[in-house]
Amino acid sequence: MTGPASSPATEGTIGGLRARLGEARAGGRRVGLVPTMGFLHAGHRSLVERARSENDLVVVSIFVNPLQFNPGEDFDDYPRDLGRDVEVCAEAGADIVFAPEQREMYPEPVATTVRVGSLADVLCGAARAGHFDGVATVVAKLFAIVGDCAAYFGEKDFQQLTIVRRMAKDLSLPVRVVGCPTVREPDGLALSSRNAYLSPDERVQAPVLHRALEAGAALVEAGETDGAAVEAEMAAVVGRAPLARIDYAAAVRPGTLTRGPEPLRGEVRLLVAVRFGKARLIDNLGCRAG
Ligand code: PAJ
Repeated sequence: MTGPASSPATEGTIGGLRARLGEARAGGRRVGLVPTMGFLHAGHRSLVERARSENDLVVVSIFVNPLQFNPGEDFDDYPRDLGRDVEVCAEAGADIVFAPEQREMYPEPVATTVRVGSLADVLCGAARAGHFDGVATVVAKLFAIVGDCAAYFGEKDFQQLTIVRRMAKDLSLPVRVVGCPTVREPDGLALSSRNAYLSPDERVQAPVLHRALEAGAALVEAGETDGAAVEAEMAAVVGRAPLARIDYAAAVRPGTLTRGPEPLRGEVRLLVAVRFGKARLIDNLGCRAG
């Protein structure tokens, strides 16, 4: 844990952030970046602490990015609490909180966006058209603003992590993308800002995502190489929670996020997406086949 928290500098403009980073780089300091949409929890905090341990200057960005929400999604309702977020950043040892207004990031409607290829069409991308283009566009902007740095992302959003890694490589961005383990509640539920949407009954049932992944992983590790059987088992476990509505249960290759060709072999990523009322929860787990 960190010592007494000193308040990070909060910065609302791109120019102001660049000026601070310019000074730091002139002093040879390594920069770590943690992009977030705020309403920070212990999952976010673990990324900030990791960045703190590996860099000299840590920037946390807090920006609820409208480009990655589709009409009818929860952009307006997305939980926000900047005052508390700054406290969490202070406790975790961040130096700068970059919290721009929408008009600073998008002073006019964007004409240029990042278009992600097939990695964005599957899994969550199938249900949320354009979502990952919106994520990639804002992350590319953040990488362009911050420049040479290590950027920390959670495995909790495995498809996002895969896409951001690929984007940084494809576009030769001067950013090292670091994946960090998922932080969970004691009952296995992955921490998420969207857990705030769960009713008490839904919250009791929500650990079914993690249980389904563990059941799938146990099957793979016991020698099951039929991906469809593993997916069916995960869906069956989710189906036992009466309030859960499954979106997908998938067993894929981690690099391409695609199924098959059968049989499962080597590293396998298991992923589930489940709706509870208005909350859409996702989780994933790695395992090894054969
Ligand atoms: P947000 O949902 O706020 O998440 C910010 C970062 O925290 C992401 O890298 C996410 O994977 C990580 N994270 C969330 N829950 C976690 C958990 N339980 N354990 C470990 N890490 C966790 O993801 C976004 O924001 C946005 O799409 C963003 C990348 C900021 C672009 O707008």
